Amino acid sequence: MRYAVFGGGKRLRPVAMLAAAEALGRRPEAFFEAACAVELAHTTSLILDDLPCMDDAELRRGRPCTHKKYGDATALLAAIALLSQAFRLVARNACTLGNPENASAAVTLLDEALGPRGLVGGQELDLRMTGIDISLDTVMHVHAKKAGALFVAAVRLPAVLAGVDSDRAQRLADFAAPVGLAFQITDDLIDTADPSEDAGKSTFVTLLGEEGARQRVDALIDEAISAILPLGDGAEGLRHLAKYVQSRQV
Ligand code: IPE
Ligand code: IPE
Ligand code: MG
Repeated sequence: MRYAVFGGGKRLRPVAMLAAAEALGRRPEAFFEAACAVELAHTTSLILDDLPCMDDAELRRGRPCTHKKYGDATALLAAIALLSQAFRLVARNACTLGNPENASAAVTLLDEALGPRGLVGGQELDLRMTGIDISLDTVMHVHAKKAGALFVAAVRLPAVLAGVDSDRAQRLADFAAPVGLAFQITDDLIDTADPSEDAGKSTFVTLLGEEGARQRVDALIDEAISAILPLGDGAEGLRHLAKYVQSRQV
């Protein structure tokens, strides 16, 4: 479990969550447990994604994948243990905030982001679509579930945990969806540098071309930044994050 978590990830989802907390005028420190929960759930997805029955990867973050280091069985057990710890942490965060009544809504949000309508559903669609030609709309749909849903949930969780149900919370959701999609497109752009990645898959880059994919990223980032314009200075962290996603090289 420690090997998989402390492998040098970018921590994009927890950072996005803490920036969203700031945009709501809250102390980021108050959401550390939920931020860890989202990172642990993300780590689970990476361990499973790399298994021989999934993407059959050798390396993750420049090191042997968890199953290459410890074997498939231990990797599976680590994934399940990390996932259950994620749910414990998100529920506990509601309690440490003094809002235990929000634990159920927070757990439900995480569950929906990970389940058949979220990450797991997107992964299943991705498996079925390898090797066949698919449309841009379908690629967007798969990625919105596979990777976008957890990113959107990360940005929404502070509002749910704190019980903020306002226009500001909606603006955060309107920010997160285009940034999550832009992140996936930049992932495809980075992977085009490595021909072993995404072999046999329709990606944003195969469908739009490199230039078209970059233009799409720029448009999505503009849309995201416009959504949080009314949040003022508190949203500075989110704006930085959007700009980082736009220009990232790793
Ligand atoms: C990789 O995610 C998998 C996708 C959802 C595209 P990240 O690029 O956030 O992975 P780490 O955590 O930084 O390694
Ligand atoms: C990563 O998907 C896993 C999830 C999003 C759950 P990909 O297969 O597209 O990404 P990498 O290349 O393994 O990081
Ligand atoms: Mg993979």
